[in-house]
Amino acid sequence: MTDLSPQAQVESITKAFEQDFERFARFIDDPSALGLEAAIAQQHAVVELRTRYLGKKSALAATKKLIGRVAPEERAAFGQLVQATEAKLIQSLDQAEQSLKTYIENERTARESIDVTLPGRRPRSGHRHPITLLRERLEDVFVALGYAIEDGREIETDFYNFDALNIPLNHPARAWQDTFYTTKGFALRSQTSTVQIHAMQRRGVPVRMIAPGRVFRRDTPDPTHNPMFFQVEGLCVDRGITLAHLKGTVAEFVRRMFGPDTVTRFRPSYFPFTEPSAEFDFSCFKCKGSGCRICKNSGWIELGGSGMVHPNVLRALGIDPQEYSGFAFGLGIDRMCALMYELDDIRLLFENDVRFLEKFE
Ligand code: FA5
Repeated sequence: MTDLSPQAQVESITKAFEQDFERFARFIDDPSALGLEAAIAQQHAVVELRTRYLGKKSALAATKKLIGRVAPEERAAFGQLVQATEAKLIQSLDQAEQSLKTYIENERTARESIDVTLPGRRPRSGHRHPITLLRERLEDVFVALGYAIEDGREIETDFYNFDALNIPLNHPARAWQDTFYTTKGFALRSQTSTVQIHAMQRRGVPVRMIAPGRVFRRDTPDPTHNPMFFQVEGLCVDRGITLAHLKGTVAEFVRRMFGPDTVTRFRPSYFPFTEPSAEFDFSCFKCKGSGCRICKNSGWIELGGSGMVHPNVLRALGIDPQEYSGFAFGLGIDRMCALMYELDDIRLLFENDVRFLEKFE
């Protein structure tokens, strides 16, 4: 630059500045396209540019020192040129700085301000899970029949899981249960029948209760099995309770759930804690017994197990089986839910796909 005449030096500074300033010139009228973060970065760049072109060590500062050295007749004009150049640079930089400052301030105020007049954001309302919807229907039916609702524990001791349910040590049923043992002597309950024991201990007899809740089995998941599913247990113990009461109660329950024409049937079965035991089915709610996809053309749908409370169960709780008798039943809520909503696979109920769950309300 020193080879150039002082005037040429000033011109070259002006040219370089104009080139550098071009990227600011583009947004000077409207910095909003930059966005807040980029505008802040540009603000720093303007400061740097100011130091580079107007600072003490700038080329322009150096040209000021030349004023005294130019020929006297040119001195005034050169001084004016330097001053005018400096003024122009200052004006451009001030303009860019002011424009960015205004935009940044406005943007920050807009971001931080709360418009109290805006309507609130309505939280997306959730809804109950299909299993919960069905459980509540079941509860309503039994409450109307005079049953209380009992809560049970999901982790049980061997006493409640087995001993009190007439499943003594070494009884093959302990293996059949395919239980999830936790620590020694504790297991996740594999059926809600455990609540029969708690209910009789807590309430004594006579008792009429249902106990809906989660149960756990080492079952491999498939369209009709899950390792965690829901059951509802029913228990009625009083003087003079017979199998006829069990049949009448189950029949009334299915009528209230599936319509007044629904028919029930009992098939002999075995459960260690009931004697006699029976599994019960109801006539298909879809085809009314003529056969369809839901009932696999049999006209019947399996619902659960039941029976008269085994005298050993009553005895273990200090209840005299000569004086009291009772019935119990248990059914799986998940499979019932799948049937009612025509789901092909009960695993859908626990995949937690909101698009699926939203369909139920
Ligand atoms: C029982 O669990 C007995 N506690 C029922 C009972 C209660 C009998 C009171 C007598 C007196 P069962 O193992 O059959 O019975 O299971 C009952 C229901 O649970 C079945 O009908 C079925 O609907 C459901 N269930 C069983 N295993 C699974 C599974 N892996 N996934 C989903 N549902 C299941």
